[in-house]
Amino acid sequence: MIRGERVVLRAIESGDLERCHQWMNDPEVKRFLSMRFPISMVQEKQWVEGERDPNKELHLAIEALEGEHIGNCGLMNRDTISRHAELGIVIGNKEYWSKGYGTDAMLTLCGFGFTQMNLHRICLRVLDVNARGIRCYEKCGFQHEGRLREAEFKHGAYHDMLLMSILADEFREQWPERWPTGAGEQ
Ligand SMILES: CC(C)(COP(=O)(O)OP(=O)(O)OC[C@H]1O[C@@H](n2cnc3c(N)ncnc32)[C@H](O)[C@@H]1OP(=O)(O)O)[C@@H](O)C(=O)NCCC(=O)NCCS
Repeated sequence: MIRGERVVLRAIESGDLERCHQWMNDPEVKRFLSMRFPISMVQEKQWVEGERDPNKELHLAIEALEGEHIGNCGLMNRDTISRHAELGIVIGNKEYWSKGYGTDAMLTLCGFGFTQMNLHRICLRVLDVNARGIRCYEKCGFQHEGRLREAEFKHGAYHDMLLMSILADEFREQWPERWPTGAGEQ
C-alpha cells in the first residue's frame, strides 16, 4: 500500500471488478476519456485479472482513507532507458470529484514513481475541455508542453489533446514533503 494524505493506493483486486465495470460504462466518467465503446464484464475481468508486469505497467486502486475504493490510477508505457512513464487517473465515484482526492492520488503516485521507481519524467494527455482535470494537474505542478490539434473526436466535435509533464527535480522542489530522504521514511 502506498499512503498519501487523503488516499491510499493499493493493488486492484477481483472484488473491485463490478465497481470498475460500472465506472467504465458511466457516460459522465467516460466523457473525457478516450475509451468510447461499452465495456463488457468479460473485458473488464480481463483488464482487472490480467497478469501485468508492474515494472512496465502499474495499475493501482485509489482508496479514500476511510476505506472506500473511489477510482484507479496508473503509470503506463514505462521507458526504462529514458526513465519516463505516462500517468492515467479516473476517480470513478463522482461524489468524490472536486474534493482534492484526485490531486492527492496524483501526488502520491508521482511521489512513488519518482522516489521508488526512479522515473525522471511523468507525462499525461488531457482533452482541452477537461477543465477539472487540467486544473488538478496544474495544481500538482505539471507543465503544459504541447497541443495535438483536433486529435480527438468526441461527442460530435474535434478536440485538442494537451500534453503535460513533470520532471523529478520539479516535483522534488514543489513537494519536498513527498520526497523521503532516507529508507523507511515514506
Ligand atoms: C480529473 C480527476 C482525476 C480530478 O480529480 P478530482 O478529485 O476531481 O480533482 P481535485 O479536486 O483534486 O482538483 C480539481 C480542481 O479543479 C477545480 N475544478 C472543478 N471543476 C472545474 C471546472 N469546470 N473548471 C475549472 N476548475 C474546475 C476544482 O475546484 C479543483 O481545484 P481547487 O482545488 O483549486 O478548487 C477526476 O475528476 C476524474 O477522474 N474525472 C473523470 C475522469 C477523468 O476526467 N480522468 C482524467 C482524464 S485525463
